[in-house]
Formats: sequence, C-alpha cells, structure tokens
Amino acid sequence: MIQKFNKRNLLIAFLAVFALIQFKVIDKSPIEINPESDFLMIEQAPKEVVELIQTSCYDCHSNLTTYPWYSNIAPVSWWLKGHIDNGRGKLNFSEWDSYSLEESDTLKVKSANMIEKNWMPILTYKIIHKESRLSDEQRALLIGWLKK
Ligand code: HEC
Repeated sequence: MIQKFNKRNLLIAFLAVFALIQFKVIDKSPIEINPESDFLMIEQAPKEVVELIQTSCYDCHSNLTTYPWYSNIAPVSWWLKGHIDNGRGKLNFSEWDSYSLEESDTLKVKSANMIEKNWMPILTYKIIHKESRLSDEQRALLIGWLKK
C-alpha cells in the first residue's frame, strides 16, 4: 500500500514539474532576413547546392529556422534552442556578409570537413529529419563545391 502511495506521489510530482517547466518558453521570434546577406546568394550557389544546404543545415545555421511542433514542449524545446543558438553562433549562413574573407573561407572548409566526416547535420537531427540526410553523391557534390 505504502509503495503504491509513493508511486502516485512521484507521478504527481513529475507532472507538476513538467507543467511548471512549460512556462519557460524559448524565444522563436522571427529575425529579419536580408537575402543579400545570405551565403547561398553571395556565393552564387547552383540550385542543387542551395536545396541541399537549405534542407540539411539551415535549421541550425541560419535565421530561417523552421520550428517543429515539439519545439513548444519543454525540456525538448530547450535542447533544440541550444543547438540553434550554438549552431548560429559558430556559423550563420544568413549573416554571411558579416564574416571577413578569411573567416568565410575557413567556414567553408570547416563545413566541407564536417560533411566529409558525417558530423553535420548532427545525428539526432538526421534521425528525426529524414530529408536532411545526405547521400554519398550529395556529400561529394557539396564538398566539391565548398572547396572550390
Ligand atoms: C541540428 C542542428 C544542426 C544542423 C542541422 C547542422 N548543424 Fe552544424 N553545428 C551545430 C552545432 C550545435 C554546432 C556547434 C557544435 C559545437 O562545437 O559544440 C555546429 C557546428 C558546425 C560547424 C563548426 C563551426 C566551427 O567554427 O567550429 C560547422 C562548419 C557546421 N556546423 C556546418 C554544418 C553544415 C555544413 C551543416 C549541413 C550539412 C550543418 N552544420 C547542420 C548544429 C547543427
């Protein structure tokens, strides 16, 4: 009996905490986009490259993030936001004109390396977003273009 009672209390406590943390919503306010500052625009990427990079990288590395429904549910939302803030901080394709020539060259090489090693897009993202997975040919295409 006592054990049952404890389990129930635990469940109630869990639900209460879950309900409470929902008050801490993440900031998803849209950021103004200037198409002329965009990486793919500035670098005059061919159509295939545009589509691949937008699909596989832009959710975390641009200001054009598409937020899934579960981005409304804490603590998953905090975890997503961490990826986005961290990703944008390191590399933001929407603010490409804010990088020096040297920085943008480095970021292109780093991107090619990340794709080559299969580190980007990150694994958990690829599991959920099937469309972001890159085939070997698509990876070769991106690496070739990024390193040119
Ligand atoms: C789910 C979010 C997400 C996606 C999608 C994603 N990235 Fe990342 N990326 C990150 C995060 C988070 C980091 C920072 C990792 C760290 O250093 O802690 C990062 C780091 C990087 C870095 C390293 C930058 C530096 O200076 O260290 C490069 C380059 C990069 N990503 C390129 C890409 C490319 C190219 C794609 C698409 C093929 C991509 N990423 C897709 C989240 C993402």
